[in-house]
Amino acid sequence: MSNKDKKTCGDVLDEWKEFFWNPRTREFMGRTGSSWALILLFYLVFYCFLTGLFALTMWVMLQTLDDYKPTYQDRLATPGMMIRPRSKTLEITYSMSNTETWDGYVNTLNEFLLPYNDSLQAANNEFCTPGKYFTQDDNSDVRNNPKRSCQFNRTLLEDCSGLEDQYYGYRNGQPCVLIKLNRVIGMKPGDGEAPFVTCTGKKYKVGKDTWKEDSDKIGPIAYFPPNGTFNLMYYPYYGKHAQVNYSQPLVAVKFLNVTMNTDINIECRIMARNIKVDNDRDKFAGRVSFLLRIDNI
Ligand SMILES: *[C@@H]1O[C@H](CO)[C@@H](O)[C@H](O)[C@H]1NC(C)=O
Ligand SMILES: *[C@@H]1O[C@H](CO)[C@@H](O)[C@H](O)[C@H]1NC(C)=O
Ligand SMILES: *[C@@H]1O[C@H](CO)[C@@H](O)[C@H](O)[C@H]1NC(C)=O
Ligand SMILES: *[C@@H]1O[C@H](CO)[C@@H](O)[C@H](O)[C@H]1NC(C)=O
Ligand SMILES: *[C@@H]1O[C@H](CO)[C@@H](O)[C@H](O)[C@H]1NC(C)=O
Repeated sequence: MSNKDKKTCGDVLDEWKEFFWNPRTREFMGRTGSSWALILLFYLVFYCFLTGLFALTMWVMLQTLDDYKPTYQDRLATPGMMIRPRSKTLEITYSMSNTETWDGYVNTLNEFLLPYNDSLQAANNEFCTPGKYFTQDDNSDVRNNPKRSCQFNRTLLEDCSGLEDQYYGYRNGQPCVLIKLNRVIGMKPGDGEAPFVTCTGKKYKVGKDTWKEDSDKIGPIAYFPPNGTFNLMYYPYYGKHAQVNYSQPLVAVKFLNVTMNTDINIECRIMARNIKVDNDRDKFAGRVSFLLRIDNI
């Protein structure tokens, strides 16, 4: 390489200096002052415009929101169902003789049922007329809030209330499982006729085209409240802002004589005139399945 092509450190530094500030053309980083000013002005206006646009969109969106109702909701969503006690795998398995295997279930139920304490319900909620929807609709623009909720007393769960039998039947092999229907705002399940829960053996696949079910192992079941119904008076639900003290109605299912020492696949589903359950895509829509196994050896 020749000497001519080789730039010294000083040359490079001078070039950079000139780039930052060129006294001949009075340019700063290749632009004159007025050019820079125009660019700054452009971005200032541009960002002001973006901010304004964003604020306007937000404002318009917020105008259309309602604190008390979701803006988007399926018209007749099939409500999900869930059990208590609930584990990740939806299994209730324990050994009768080993207290430690079931006292967790009992504790879960105790805690879950605390808000259903009769005296709390009487203090917070209303004594409603059973068998009728408890509608408290808004009068066009006049809100009818806060809305009252109906009492669901723990004692309604009778043998599964944990009051007389504080072990919910787990100790003597007749466990209780609580079932709840997820809240859907505005839903009137049953179309005037109380929806109820029924539990049967769940069909499950054992081979390529072979299915099995454990109905014969389930034995008799008791439902509380009677017939496993969700009374109509607990519907419609208006959302947690409007109905602050709402207590979700429950159905307790007590297994009276299941076959011991074997896995039993159980499915409980909601029976209601206006709720379709056979949705293969969502296995929690209107139904819930779980595995029950009680060991006594
Ligand atoms: C409800 O709570 C009160 C006080 O907290 C308690 O004395 C009473 O035993 C509870 N009743 C039920 C049914 O759990
Ligand atoms: C719930 O229990 C309370 C206290 O015992 C009672 O006053 C109330 O009437 C009960 N409510 C219903 C709906 O049974
Ligand atoms: C909710 O419960 C609280 C506490 O008992 C009571 O003061 C309030 O009036 C209740 N609100 C409604 C809307 O029922
Ligand atoms: C339970 O269902 C039976 C038969 O459908 C009916 O006769 C009875 O009145 C129902 N009981 C309650 C408490 O709803
Ligand atoms: C429980 O079911 C078994 C059959 O699975 C039967 O032999 C037994 O008599 C039943 N017990 C009661 C108390 O019904």
